[in-house]
Amino acid sequence: MGTDKESRINYSDRFSDIKPIIIRRCTQQDLEAVIEVNEKELPEDYPYFFYKSILDNFPEAFLVATDKDNKVIGYVMWRVEQIPSMDSLRYVNKGHLVSIAVSQEYRRRGIGTTLLSNSISAVKKHKITELVLEVRVSNYIAIKLYEKFNFTMKSVKNNYYRDGENAYYMVQNAVTN
Ligand SMILES: CC(C)(COP(=O)(O)OP(=O)(O)OC[C@H]1O[C@@H](n2cnc3c(N)ncnc32)[C@H](O)[C@@H]1OP(=O)(O)O)[C@@H](O)C(=O)NCCC(=O)NCCS
Repeated sequence: MGTDKESRINYSDRFSDIKPIIIRRCTQQDLEAVIEVNEKELPEDYPYFFYKSILDNFPEAFLVATDKDNKVIGYVMWRVEQIPSMDSLRYVNKGHLVSIAVSQEYRRRGIGTTLLSNSISAVKKHKITELVLEVRVSNYIAIKLYEKFNFTMKSVKNNYYRDGENAYYMVQNAVTN
């Protein structure tokens, strides 16, 4: 699934009363709403300029989910980092998941899955050799989501979060997906 066009999540059965959720690229006008979702759903927050620099540098992999009123109810953002190659003197690109969140009342409807799927397709256009992320060791739900995308635990980063919690460092070998 690409990200140059919008994606739509239509609901049947259980959520038939709900209008489709749109997944599309983030714009500068969305940033305040993205920050609002982040501050409500995650303990890690960032200053405005940080979001803006991610949007300026990696716009194709910065996506939002919006409801029928075009209200932002989820987002995902990635950055691309250059690291020395293991088998040559070149540098290779690594995709690093910066943050993903879906508003509580919209969870468990496939929005996180669609955000991740579409953004992974977009970030892989940077000739990525691997995709990486950190997740709180207690964040069972997010770990389940990442495992769906074949991320596996590579190591533990002790005391990674400001409150002292450890992180799992999870990696997906981008070539195989
Ligand atoms: C993680 C998060 C983005 C998932 O969003 P979502 O829209 O609910 O995700 P989906 O509906 O696509 O579910 C994806 C998978 O996550 C897992 N999952 C989601 N909710 C779950 C729950 N309540 N219990 C167990 N597993 C759950 C399942 O594996 C699910 O796949 P499945 O439906 O095929 O079983 C959302 O829970 C969230 O915003 N959490 C707070 C922010 C956060 O922790 N971000 C990650 C920081 S590293």
